Amino acid sequence: MKAIVLKDLENLNYEEIDNQSIEGFVKIKIKASALNHRDVWISKGQYAGIKFPMVLGSDGVGFDDQGKKVIINPGLNWGSNEAFQSKSYQILGLPNFGTFSDSCWVAPTQIYDFPTHLDDVSAAALPSAGVTAYRSLFSRAKVKPTDKVLISGVGGGVALFAMQFAIALGCDVYVTSGHEWKIEKAISMGAKGGKNYKSDSYVKEFQSEVGGFDVIVDSAGGDGFSNLVKLANPGGRIVFYGGTNGNLNINPQMVFWKQLSILGSTMGSDHDFAEMLAFVNQYKIVPVVDSIFELKDFKAAFDKMNKGEQFGKIVFRNS
Ligand SMILES: NC(=O)c1ccc[n+]([C@@H]2O[C@H](COP(=O)([O-])OP(=O)(O)OC[C@H]3O[C@@H](n4cnc5c(N)ncnc54)[C@H](OP(=O)(O)O)[C@@H]3O)[C@@H](O)[C@H]2O)c1
Repeated sequence: MKAIVLKDLENLNYEEIDNQSIEGFVKIKIKASALNHRDVWISKGQYAGIKFPMVLGSDGVGFDDQGKKVIINPGLNWGSNEAFQSKSYQILGLPNFGTFSDSCWVAPTQIYDFPTHLDDVSAAALPSAGVTAYRSLFSRAKVKPTDKVLISGVGGGVALFAMQFAIALGCDVYVTSGHEWKIEKAISMGAKGGKNYKSDSYVKEFQSEVGGFDVIVDSAGGDGFSNLVKLANPGGRIVFYGGTNGNLNINPQMVFWKQLSILGSTMGSDHDFAEMLAFVNQYKIVPVVDSIFELKDFKAAFDKMNKGEQFGKIVFRNS
């Protein structure tokens, strides 16, 4: 099969590799797959447990061995506790070969009904980012329609789903971004407003124009996290699933005095994945696709994500 193969940290190529069949698993003929920041971290060696050679890619849609169109849950072995994943939990695309390929082997439990209101490309954008956004908002932050919600860094794949889900639920949703044009796009999709997190005055502006937020979703962490603590309403929940900018800067007094909950979240259980699909089907949510590449042009796709130029998901379509 032909795939995007990480041979070592110097060599990421589109090339032939022997398929990795796994007993009891099902071969999926991949029609489309989507890039996540995880693939970029792995290709740079910034991820635990990297092994070579590896076929990258967590998200995919395609046809199973019966010819049925399916969507893949990248998570395997979540385990029996909804609160956290088991020690044997893994995500497709490391350690098992992933979806940036003609075909891919997945466990029967990873195969779900294809969301029929979507085409291959938009459905491929959904799995990892969709389930991470869903668990963060619903299972962890317990978002309600009456909550005022802030999504930070809305240009991110997960962040954009979090915005779409919270708007669909009926929340008043605000965003931040480092790019004015991304804020404008978010507003055109139903966000009530947005601020540039690079501006020194953005916290004060939000405080005077909007007040505070009941639920805040973040993936950047770092020094900027202290601004989110300032922007949280008493009793608020700040949920984060990434730490792109490093360690959190938190004022403990503000957290305990405002009775804040600071919640970590990772991917989602099989239950979260099924609930996410049901939500997407119910509200006919259509993932935002930034751009579509062929697998052979993967370098341009990885570059685009590295530079943060995208709004929505970067998708690979197989011919
Ligand atoms: N724990 C999990 O299960 C899980 C799942 C998925 C992703 N992640 C992690 O979450 C992070 C984002 O993943 P992704 O796939 O959504 O990546 P992505 O699509 O590349 O998005 C990254 C986004 O981060 C935003 N950002 C950068 N600096 C920021 C800052 N100072 N404040 C707020 N936002 C900032 C940018 O938003 P703007 O462009 O709008 O400025 C950028 O688009 C990565 O670190 C990834 O590894 C974790």
